[in-house]
Parts: sequence; C-alpha cells; structure tokens
Amino acid sequence: KENLIIAIDGFSSTGKSSMSKIIAKKLNYTHIDSGAMYRAVTLYAFQQNYIENQTINIPLLIAHLNEIKIEFKQDSSSQKNHTYLNGVDVEQEIRAMQISKMVSPISEIPAVRDYCVALQQKMGENGAIVMDGRDIGTTVFPNADIKIFITASPEIRAKRRFLEYQQQGKEIALEEVFANVKERDYIDSHREYSPLRKADDAIEVDNSNLNLEETVDKVMEIVQSKM
Ligand code: C5P
Repeated sequence: KENLIIAIDGFSSTGKSSMSKIIAKKLNYTHIDSGAMYRAVTLYAFQQNYIENQTINIPLLIAHLNEIKIEFKQDSSSQKNHTYLNGVDVEQEIRAMQISKMVSPISEIPAVRDYCVALQQKMGENGAIVMDGRDIGTTVFPNADIKIFITASPEIRAKRRFLEYQQQGKEIALEEVFANVKERDYIDSHREYSPLRKADDAIEVDNSNLNLEETVDKVMEIVQSKM
C-alpha cells in the first residue's frame, strides 16, 4: 500500500517525535508533530496575556483562536521542520519549561482541540504521513493504516527529558522534570474530551529498555509487516 497514515501516540517524553521523524524520513513521508500545535497555541496565549498566574482566560482564548496561524516549514540550514506561529519561527520557544507547564491545561479546552484536530486532519488528508501525539489513532485518524502506542516508565521518561535539557544548557532539576511528566500524564489521560488512551487496534511498544535506534527498528518492523 502507498501513502499510508501512521499514527504514533503515547505519553510525554517517550521519544515519539524523534522516532516519528526518523521513520518518516525512511519512508519518504511527512512527519507532523501534533504536540507542537498545542505548544504554539500555549505560546500564543502567553504572548497575548491570556495566561496570568497559571490561570487561563478561556473565553478570550477561544474568541481569538482564528487568529492563530500554525505552519511547519523546513529550516534551510538544519533541514529540520520548524514550527511557525503567525509567520514567526517558534521551534525553540515552544519547548521551554514555561510552555510545558501550561500546555496540558490548554489542551484540555475542547475548542482548542477542535481547532488543532481540524488542522491535523487537513495536513494529513493525502496520507504519506507519520503523525505523533496523544489522540491521533483515536480521534484525529481513527482509520489510520498503522497505529503504534509507545509507553515507558515515568522515571525513565523524566530522565531522558532531563538529559535533553542538560544538553541544551538548561539547568532544570530532575525532580521538576519528573513532576511535569507525571502531571501531564495525569491531565492528558484524565481529561474529559479526547483523552490520551491506546486505540483498541494500536500496537503497544514499551521502550523503557530500548534506545532511539532500537525503538525505530522495532516500529519499522511493525510498519513493514503492514505495508
Ligand atoms: O508531544 P508533546 O509532549 O510536545 O505535547 C505537548 C502536550 O500537548 C501534551 O502534554 C498534551 O497535553 C498535548 N497534546 C495533546 N494531543 C496531542 C498532542 C499533544 O493533547 N495530539
């Protein structure tokens, strides 16, 4: 089969985006990081002062959702896909801890989800995509050709994210990263509207004891068996 839709869902910091990027490249498909969209909406809410003291002005955000334009464009120097918010490259900014702390409450808002899901469905309508997120196999593309659900223990995920921050020269305590991972797990899987859960027909891969390369190999095996 050609031009498949491959959905990769799972908890935060499982390496979903990194593996999806590599898998898309191997297949000559487009990778879409759906989490980047929720992060861009969160950044927008900060820019407009719709978030104050960790409280979101939900009606105001909803009223201005149609002013948010999110695009992915290839960066000419690094060849990587970067996230653009209203024409500005925000790839780095959306990964900041300040955004990670507010993104799950923002993602709980049904109007925000509807907005992002519509965009994701539009970007993936022609197939040949690998999309990673929380609800791709359940809500965005319930008929996706291949569904993978990635898990790993929260301790291991926090450690990975912590090392990533360290490599970027960001001094954030492991406990703070661990707390954020656990909090996002909880909110993402308990929200009322389109919670994070494994689709019935998704194949689960636990990568607690696998590195990125090994995870890619395992997922590629599954993908190839279904192509
Ligand atoms: O994938 P990433 O960790 O960057 O996603 C950030 C947050 O965006 C998640 O913790 C979750 O709250 C939200 N998200 C979501 N649905 C998706 C992708 C991300 O709710 N499909």
